[in-house]
Amino acid sequence: MPADDSLAKQPAFNDSKWRMVDLPHDWSIEGSFSEKNPTTQGEGGLPAGIGWYRKTFKVPLSSKNKIVFIDFDGVYRNSEVWINGYYLGKRPNGYISFSYDLTPYLHFGEQDNVIAIKVDNSGQPNSRWYSGSGIYRNVWLNTVNKTHFTKWGTFITTPVITNNEALVQIHTTISRADKNLSLKTIIYNEKGEVVAYGLSPIKKPDDTTAISYHLTIRNPQLWSTDHPYLYKVSLQIVRDNKVLDDLSINTGVRSFKFDAQKGFSLNGIHMKIKGVCMHHDLGALGAAVNTRAIERQLQILKDMGCNAIRTSHNPPAPEFLDLCDKMGFLVMDEAFDMWAKKKTKHDYHEDWVQWHKRDLEDQILRDRNHPSVFIWSIGNEIREQFDSSGITIARELVKIVKDIDRTRPITSALSEPDPHKNFIYQSGVLDLVGLNYHQEVYTDFRKNYPGQKFIATETMSALETRGFYDTPTDTTRHWPQSSKIPFKQGNPEFAVSAYDNVAAYWGSTHEETWKIIKKYDFLSGLFIWTGFDYIGEPTPYPWPARSSYFGIVDLAGFPKDVYYMYQSEWTNKPVLHLLPHWNWKPGQLIDVWAYYSQADEVELFLNGRSLGIKTKQGDDLHVAWKVKFEPGTLKIVSRKNGKIVLTQEVHTVGSPARIELLADRKLIKADGKDLSFITVRILDSRGNIVPDADNPVNFKITGPAQVAGTDNGSQTDMESFKADHHKAFHGMCLLIVEARKNGGKAMVYAQSAGLQSANLVLNVK
Ligand code: GAL
Repeated sequence: MPADDSLAKQPAFNDSKWRMVDLPHDWSIEGSFSEKNPTTQGEGGLPAGIGWYRKTFKVPLSSKNKIVFIDFDGVYRNSEVWINGYYLGKRPNGYISFSYDLTPYLHFGEQDNVIAIKVDNSGQPNSRWYSGSGIYRNVWLNTVNKTHFTKWGTFITTPVITNNEALVQIHTTISRADKNLSLKTIIYNEKGEVVAYGLSPIKKPDDTTAISYHLTIRNPQLWSTDHPYLYKVSLQIVRDNKVLDDLSINTGVRSFKFDAQKGFSLNGIHMKIKGVCMHHDLGALGAAVNTRAIERQLQILKDMGCNAIRTSHNPPAPEFLDLCDKMGFLVMDEAFDMWAKKKTKHDYHEDWVQWHKRDLEDQILRDRNHPSVFIWSIGNEIREQFDSSGITIARELVKIVKDIDRTRPITSALSEPDPHKNFIYQSGVLDLVGLNYHQEVYTDFRKNYPGQKFIATETMSALETRGFYDTPTDTTRHWPQSSKIPFKQGNPEFAVSAYDNVAAYWGSTHEETWKIIKKYDFLSGLFIWTGFDYIGEPTPYPWPARSSYFGIVDLAGFPKDVYYMYQSEWTNKPVLHLLPHWNWKPGQLIDVWAYYSQADEVELFLNGRSLGIKTKQGDDLHVAWKVKFEPGTLKIVSRKNGKIVLTQEVHTVGSPARIELLADRKLIKADGKDLSFITVRILDSRGNIVPDADNPVNFKITGPAQVAGTDNGSQTDMESFKADHHKAFHGMCLLIVEARKNGGKAMVYAQSAGLQSANLVLNVK
């Protein structure tokens, strides 16, 4: 219930009028956009406030001699928890996982238990991006025997890897270990075959017993971004063949190295870190964790050739890391966006003194087993980099991390590039120098930071609106131009050109920075700001802009043109991408760009006439023509050794005639969570997408599925993300359909006045 009622902590409280919600849940995303919401434009202008959740549940009598924990993966923010009227505690940090022991307060058997959770996100603003509000990550009730593996008490590493074997080092902790216990360890490969086995008695049982040992995997398959091979390590505490507790952790056999001269290598093979920064929102679904929605984002990035993600600027959901392990992404896992000094009025700086140690420890303990995690970041553009307190705090934080994990380098994303002026750098404890922006200093890095290892922790901040084009493209626009000049440029549409020719003054176009990173080996790689657009921070525009322009992919998950520049550079698949659309005024001079790869040349044709062959010269990343518009067909052909590799055509299109629905998956699981992402396109009578179509589309679903969200990728759209209708934007919008728990066929209908409607069938199984 998004309102405050302090009586709700009492078990007897009557909550019959409350709304039933499924977790994970984000109440902000259900609200209406308003400039007046205290979250401000920076958080997307959605409501926040205070909310309460209650759940009534029974615990079986068989659990009486056990311990019952409640594990929260993350609650935004200031959660307070009561069980049967007893206060369990408060956790201010909205991105951290935490648990409480419910056992002493529980009723076992037929009597009800009531858990009440207050979530207070009313202190605003407290973030520089959309955070969401509520129990937006999963919650688990975890019942264990008194003797059990301590939460996050197991750490698995692979310190020695040779061609024919990998040493798997296991450190585990057992709570209330008893006599006559053994620890059984089995390592399985991906086929489920046993590749290593160990059984040993637990000597010196104690209240908490720490045990370290190792097993060996022969001829290991290595984990890499191209081949993310996972072994499953299964641990069991056994007495007389009875399993008292078990635990299973995925592990990857991999080694990596940063080198001041040679850059980054994974398993001894040099590679560039081709990363993007991501905030945690899932577009129209808000912050509420949904595994399929995260997987879709990662798939879109993987197809672009991206191999690394920075979880800016906070610890991610556990599901996100599991997916990165499985799909082959390296992860820079970041702790904080601020330390003791604030960035927004009510942000985490208020909790810094009391909580930073505990929060950082818990993050490292939770995430240290993920093979994907390869860098810890202790903070982003922290204000303490500008004074000597940066030295003290950086040293303290690095020690906290190193006491738990020494296998990964620690960085901090620095925005002051002068080594003499940056106190976090001066602390001398960073393993990796992480620079945000300032691409002009990269080339001289080795001179200015002798012996140091480099990573570009944040780059570009280029700006684009999908499907919008401003010509000419000969110069780069800086929007805003500087911190001193108020932003006066822009256009009435509040849009930004999708030619890669606009960037914030502190950043660069995509091409500019990528060319530098690409050129030098010692520049280990980069994290582009950002992979996807996110809600909030709509630089450069004022309200009604409410989501970011920085993404390579828009908020709905539709790639902007520059996506194909990266795909042409970062993958081995042949790419050919032509922009812009071909609906202009006769005689208008249009810049036509093409990204291509795996070809020697491209040739452009207008209505059958060749406009010339072009080849990328030097470090070019695209080719371009200036073309006087005439209606018809623009066609591009790429060739290698004289043979055609790919062709693409763009047509001048007529008025909107019909709707087309394209589901990413037509078969979804009947689990109440699985999603089908349906791209809705507005086509003319010949089946071409209409580039300026903004027709309103209404959706209806019958059968075992429902609307989970709708969006169109526009940064200024004020329609609710939860509405069952949405206007198209540049010819497209998105419908997200969620399965219910019963199977069957779901019919999805899309209608718009004056257009031929469309429908499709989803199989919910
Ligand atoms: C950076 C900051 C990011 C984001 C970005 C926008 O300075 O670290 O969180 O605000 O600017 O360009």
